[in-house]
Amino acid sequence: MIDVRRFDRADQVIAAAADAICALLAEKPEAAIGLATGRTQQPLYAELLRRHRAGEVSFRRARCFHLDEYWRLPETSPQSMSHQLQAQFVASTDLSAGRFDRVNGMAADPALEAARYEAAIRRAGGIDLQLLGLGTNGHIGFNEPGSPHASRMRLVRLTAETRAQNRDFFPPGATVPPEALTMGIATILEARSILVLVTGASKAAALQAAVEGPINAASPASALQRHGNCTLLCDAKAAQSLKGN
Ligand code: GLP
Repeated sequence: MIDVRRFDRADQVIAAAADAICALLAEKPEAAIGLATGRTQQPLYAELLRRHRAGEVSFRRARCFHLDEYWRLPETSPQSMSHQLQAQFVASTDLSAGRFDRVNGMAADPALEAARYEAAIRRAGGIDLQLLGLGTNGHIGFNEPGSPHASRMRLVRLTAETRAQNRDFFPPGATVPPEALTMGIATILEARSILVLVTGASKAAALQAAVEGPINAASPASALQRHGNCTLLCDAKAAQSLKGN
């Protein structure tokens, strides 16, 4: 079952997510955190940096991983997922050098890179807290509808909907990559805790299906119902289609 916590506004969702991350780091400074990209997470990184500058939280001993990366986009490209996370968050923290492990979207072999990344997560002792957003089609990471819930990290083909959703991150005329490396659903479910952030009316149907719908491949996020420690923070707009309380 997913522990759904509703807030009136998106800024309250962000504050609650920042509270959860700061509480984890206070208890376990060396925690491994799985970062996620997307518009929903951007204000969370801004809030964490604000708290960091105020001396309220240190990332020095933490480790960071991330969910997904476009395939064949160099990490120097501003649209690369790891570049965005580095620029928006990691570079402005006190995270020790080398403790943000980036997925290499330019690796020679996607299967080898996926295996390397999963091994790095295992060597770090697993992920303590995995951040997630939700696609309008119910995707988590880049696990599109139809992805097996037993999937591991792998190369996937993106749907037209997902590429359109991410179009604005790219300059006019540039192609949104058709493929990405993503942690699989089973990889995500191995995290000891999962924190899903969902805001805005465009996510209402996907949120309802994830939380109250059947657990099936049509809704990748419905797999989260099987996790024992998954909290979903949402605003009133995203929660508007939920039937139960
Ligand atoms: C993207 C990412 C996801 C993200 C989701 C929602 O395609 N792969 O990790 O959570 O879509 O993005 P947004 O927060 O911009 O709505």
